Amino acid sequence: MTSLELIQTARLFLEPLRTEHAGEMLDVLSDDRLYRFIGGQPPTYAELVDQYTRQVVGHSADCSERWLNWIVREAETQAATGYVQATVDSEPAVAAVAWVIGTRHQGRGYATEAATAMVAWLRADGVGRVMADVHPEHHASNAVARRLGLAPTGEIVDGELRWAYDA
Ligand SMILES: CC(C)(COP(=O)(O)OP(=O)(O)OC[C@H]1O[C@@H](n2cnc3c(N)ncnc32)[C@H](O)[C@@H]1OP(=O)(O)O)[C@@H](O)C(=O)NCCC(=O)NCCS
Repeated sequence: MTSLELIQTARLFLEPLRTEHAGEMLDVLSDDRLYRFIGGQPPTYAELVDQYTRQVVGHSADCSERWLNWIVREAETQAATGYVQATVDSEPAVAAVAWVIGTRHQGRGYATEAATAMVAWLRADGVGRVMADVHPEHHASNAVARRLGLAPTGEIVDGELRWAYDA
């Protein structure tokens, strides 16, 4: 099991999450429209620090789950643009993945590029099944799942369609 690493793509850096990312991510996550399909609302600074402090532990209390989070940074401008994340069950290694890109950085292929790199990293780390739950009407997110090679399973979980790929 590899520890979380910096991942580089053609245009992006995926930086392992640190609590100090809360300041710059506050602005990225501040648009109400980001929450239309995933629920919730823009976090306050204190909420984000609290959330990141829990997430950077990197695993559940019983160590049965790994929590892997990367901030997505645009290489050219060094701007934080969003995040990708994976929750990995250890036996067998199954990853539930998700992606968020801030509104003003959307439509440039960043979610696809970042999530593709994350999934490649997960596979190299031994993950077999990759899953994502996506609202059926969220066309952009469905397109990202398809680009990753996931396929709709037909299973609905909390109103979302489960996509999956088995290595
Ligand atoms: C889903 C999300 C991450 C996509 O980010 P993005 O960087 O704009 O995505 P990409 O640029 O990689 O585009 C992915 C695909 O969506 C398509 N797309 C983008 N916006 C679209 C829209 N409004 N309607 C339909 N398709 C759209 C793109 O054309 C692309 O498809 P293609 O590869 O077949 O051309 C972003 O909209 C987001 O963060 N939304 C809010 C959070 C969220 O719902 N996350 C999903 C949780 S699983």
